[in-house]
Amino acid sequence: MPKRILLIGPTGQVGWELLCCVQSYGQVFAVGRNPTEQPSQAYLDLADPDSIRSVIQEVKPDIILNAAAYTAVDKAETDTQQAEIINAVAPGILAEEAKALNSLLVHYSTDYVFDGLQQHAYQETDTVNPCSVYGKTKLAGEQAIQAVGGNYLILRTAWVYGMRGSNFLLTIRRLAQEREQLKIVSDQIGTPTWSRMIAEATVQILAQLNSPLSQVDTESIAGIYHLTCTGKASWYEFARAIVAQLDKQPEVLPITTAEYPTPAKRPAFSLLSNNKLATTFGLTLPNWEYALELCLAQITTAYH
Ligand SMILES: NC(=O)c1ccc[n+]([C@@H]2O[C@H](COP(=O)([O-])OP(=O)(O)OC[C@H]3O[C@@H](n4cnc5c(N)ncnc54)[C@H](OP(=O)(O)O)[C@@H]3O)[C@@H](O)[C@H]2O)c1
Repeated sequence: MPKRILLIGPTGQVGWELLCCVQSYGQVFAVGRNPTEQPSQAYLDLADPDSIRSVIQEVKPDIILNAAAYTAVDKAETDTQQAEIINAVAPGILAEEAKALNSLLVHYSTDYVFDGLQQHAYQETDTVNPCSVYGKTKLAGEQAIQAVGGNYLILRTAWVYGMRGSNFLLTIRRLAQEREQLKIVSDQIGTPTWSRMIAEATVQILAQLNSPLSQVDTESIAGIYHLTCTGKASWYEFARAIVAQLDKQPEVLPITTAEYPTPAKRPAFSLLSNNKLATTFGLTLPNWEYALELCLAQITTAYH
């Protein structure tokens, strides 16, 4: 029997790539958050617990992929209640429903659960201390899933970009057309991660867990895993790498976080160690610069 897979957030950066990658793996039920004109098509709003429960009970998925979240980091500082419902409360409901069906919940979280004061890559076991509403709500979502238990994977990723949606890569490409000079923050360090790499790694994990050859017991590997590309960069270095590939290349200048104040505080250092992912699943994502090259090549092919 093919697996029944419920994909929440198929319009997002990671969700869209999952929709493309996971098709050969089972029967995919992709649900957006808005009612469509086709009454037969289910929709799921993470801010509406009833819609979460009724869709899951109707679809009866073997696997729930939750790629949806409240991701507007700065807006969350004032839209706190909505961020809490979607990022903190909804994951617990997903976990309860997944547990009732004995299905696997795959949920994504963020490097923003850390305060960024550490000087070396964060392990899954390192102390969390988010410094923004977004980070706090995402952490609460992780904790809600862990409190319910069952079969779950929480995949913490970082600095996500891709070919669609709102992200740093597409913003820099647009600004490069409009401006002669870009001033970019150089004192925040992390790892840019292409959404496709996240989706592909997720599908590889699913394949391993469900392979007839697999010795892995899903319940015993439940937990948090860091999942980013390798290497590190500042936003300034990331911007330079993007601009270097463009026909029109504006000057890129480094500035400090203090010179570019934002409503939400970001961790100054949020490198994630991916060792647990490598030792558990044998997966290592490529270096961020190589992944960026691949993504830019895709954009060139797709849009020219
Ligand atoms: N972006 C990053 O840099 C980053 C970094 C670390 C971790 N993450 C995590 O990675 C995951 C995927 O992020 P992403 O960048 O792919 O997100 P994204 O591109 O911002 O997409 C968010 C998705 O969530 C959906 N959504 C928002 N509110 C919803 C609701 N109430 N009910 C149902 N769906 C809702 C959106 O639907 P609409 O299209 O209808 O709005 C969209 O499909 C998230 O868990 C995020 O926290 C992201």
